[in-house]
Amino acid sequence: MIAGLALLAFLAWSWWQSRLPGSYDVTSYGEIDDGGAQPAAHEHFGVAALTGPKGKPDYSLTLTAEKAPVRLASGQEVNAWTFDGSAPGPEIRVRRGDLVQVTLLNKDIGDGVTVHWHGLDVPNAEDGVAGVTQNAVEEGDRYVYRFRPEQVGTFWYHTHQDASQGVKQGLFGALVVEPRKKSRGLDLALPVHTFSGHTAIGTHDDVWRRAVPAGTPVRLRLINTDSSVARFRTSGMASVVAIDGASITPTSLLPDEVLEIGAGGRYDVAFRMPNGVASVSVVNSKAALALSPDGTGTPPVTGSGPVFDPGARTNGYTGYAQAKFDRTFDLTISKKVGFLNGRPGRHWALNGKLYPRVPMFEVAKGDLVRIDLNNDSGSVHPMHLHGHHFVVLTRNGKAVSPWSTDTLLMLPHEKYSVAFRASNPGLWMLHCHNLQHAADGLTMHVMYAGVTTPYRAGKSAHNDPE
Ligand code: C2O
Ligand code: CU
Repeated sequence: MIAGLALLAFLAWSWWQSRLPGSYDVTSYGEIDDGGAQPAAHEHFGVAALTGPKGKPDYSLTLTAEKAPVRLASGQEVNAWTFDGSAPGPEIRVRRGDLVQVTLLNKDIGDGVTVHWHGLDVPNAEDGVAGVTQNAVEEGDRYVYRFRPEQVGTFWYHTHQDASQGVKQGLFGALVVEPRKKSRGLDLALPVHTFSGHTAIGTHDDVWRRAVPAGTPVRLRLINTDSSVARFRTSGMASVVAIDGASITPTSLLPDEVLEIGAGGRYDVAFRMPNGVASVSVVNSKAALALSPDGTGTPPVTGSGPVFDPGARTNGYTGYAQAKFDRTFDLTISKKVGFLNGRPGRHWALNGKLYPRVPMFEVAKGDLVRIDLNNDSGSVHPMHLHGHHFVVLTRNGKAVSPWSTDTLLMLPHEKYSVAFRASNPGLWMLHCHNLQHAADGLTMHVMYAGVTTPYRAGKSAHNDPE
């Protein structure tokens, strides 16, 4: 009887304390994990001051978020949330070192909207996370982003307010940073997205044919904007030349080799246009791109070979294998029975804790940081860190050929060690890019010692990053 009452009281207390307040500071929850470093002497500094450079922009653009119907190539029409009336939104192509200025206008997205520059290590106040680095932009309002990209490669942009809804509905686009000296040939950014059940490359939900003269250098930038793994088959002598916006030593694909890109991830493939068909098809969908000299080519039927494994190739990274780490963190993803914001169930847990009482990893500028990730679950989790990129060191305890990534695809029960240099002060998200998982609590933060945010997450603050 007393035990029963005690259990009931415990359940009631667990339920009560799991409920999120109307608005809250994300840094005031959870337990600070210092990764084994001595507490660093630090000054307090605010997120809002960590803005991009001033001055006259080299590239400026206004993006208007609005609801609009989008017509896919097959004729299928879908109701989308768009940037400038199209989904994907306009492709942003800038040059390394350009001062980029993007003004976001929200016409009629009642949920609010932001823009996050996925994979670009922008200053913290430009990172576009509602309730962390800014307030969500309400209908009729605007926000100006400014940054100077120093990375060259394939990125993308997307809303980070209620992202699990907004990105699915179409609030995203491709972002390419070119070197100062542009290379010749055909260069296509190919965001892959599933609109109301129709998978499309750009807006092509069927075979997209293009005429390309033989001998043309071609670079295709595959971007997975969905919340699940995307698999691709290629034909026509392709090499993988970059992963998540970082070049690797070009590696030719084996016959029938499959490219498997986690949610949020990007692979660039490059080749010289052959005399026949060069193609890339999204596995389990009708979407494909077929290049051929006369523009009538059809992707060949290919088998399903091994999956391209960057860890088994030479990527040209020496990594941090011999390094001494200033901080080392453990991060275990599992499921746990409990209450998530008052909802009972089996929820995602980080180091055994449910959101928002998850760990916060504290770092200091200049630290070399290692995270030992453990996917103790039967699901796939593409783990994305904002503002930094990881170098992958080991998988399941074995050294791999290191590669650089901002969105690490973790298969069920995999373990990885990754390292990054803490070189971009601020308050940064670390979350699963299966955005539904993130909305269900698979999200946390990496904070620089002393950082504070004036923004609040929560319903009444109208800020919901995930
Ligand atoms: Cu692509 Cu936190 O996002
Ligand atoms: Cu996940």
